[in-house]
Amino acid sequence: MVLSSVLREVDDDVLEGVLACSRPECQLEFPIIDGAPILVPDVRGVISQSLLPLLARDDLSPTMVGVIGDCAGPSSAFDTMRQQLSLYAWDHYGDLDPQEPAAETGAPRPGGARACLAAGLSLAGDLTGGPAIDLGCSTGRLAFDLAERTGDLVLGVDLNLAMIRLARRVLTTGRVDYDRRRVGLVYDRRSFAMPVDRAARVDFWVADVLALPFAIESFGLVAAVNLIDCIAAPAALPGVAADLLRPGGSAVFATPYDWSPSAAAVEGWIGGHSQRAPHGGASEPLMTALLTPGAHPQSVEGLRLVGEHPGVSWQLRLHDRATMHYAVHVLAARADA
Ligand SMILES: C[S@@+](CC[C@H](N)C(=O)[O-])C[C@H]1O[C@@H](n2cnc3c(N)ncnc32)[C@H](O)[C@@H]1O
Repeated sequence: MVLSSVLREVDDDVLEGVLACSRPECQLEFPIIDGAPILVPDVRGVISQSLLPLLARDDLSPTMVGVIGDCAGPSSAFDTMRQQLSLYAWDHYGDLDPQEPAAETGAPRPGGARACLAAGLSLAGDLTGGPAIDLGCSTGRLAFDLAERTGDLVLGVDLNLAMIRLARRVLTTGRVDYDRRRVGLVYDRRSFAMPVDRAARVDFWVADVLALPFAIESFGLVAAVNLIDCIAAPAALPGVAADLLRPGGSAVFATPYDWSPSAAAVEGWIGGHSQRAPHGGASEPLMTALLTPGAHPQSVEGLRLVGEHPGVSWQLRLHDRATMHYAVHVLAARADA
């Protein structure tokens, strides 16, 4: 891959440019937009499905964004994007928001995904070092947590351009700006500081976890928090992690097994179907079997379960009066040294 053109750059950070495959017979182009490289096999598909975040303006007042939200209406692509950003930005950064209600009020608590990662890292024990990757990083806070924990290079990857955009804005401005859903189409703009360690080498790319552009054994740590039930081929994820890991590296998986046909066909779910089978339809024993060499036909060689937590609390705030509460199964695994 070569950087074939730089169209906009600030302090060595390429904000707009084009990467091109260096193989003469290929020469596919991958754009860098707003600092985020889009490194997916189907660039055309991802761009055409992401026109809204790609072309969205960020200079409109919260009032005008609200007017547009009312006009676009519920279930519009605009409202879906705002709802998703509200969900994940609240969970990732709400602890830093001075306007969040205090814990004593009984209001839902942000930070559940970070708690899943922390539980997984504690189960993983000593880390070997080397770059870390957060698969399905969404709005990015766990990548910052990984940087603090490892002191090494951290990359967050996600297919959702709106989320990567928010993560990159936090990275480059040290501020979080998001619309927090109150009720229906009503959102309140929240703006507050997120102390970003300038020395931390964190970056965010648009990439598909099932088609990652990395050589094998590139990372010392792989995190996949609340991801496996969101991808088209859930059982492939342990193999993806095993390929990415250097010998002795660690992987953290966390999932509430909230299976949905919109993410993966039923046949691809890990449990959640076939109640007559020996596992009774349970997801947990199948997931642990996938991480135990020889325990299942799809078990991954070279990656071994080292610990699990049955249920870490993860709250996702939908609006002022509704919160989804998950108990997340967290597992840590280690690549053979
Ligand atoms: C349930 S969210 C979890 C986000 C974050 N890890 C957390 O725990 O807060 C799943 C994330 O995975 C992303 N995602 C889904 N399929 C993906 C894929 N094939 N490649 C990369 N990211 C994907 C979604 O865009 C979303 O941000």
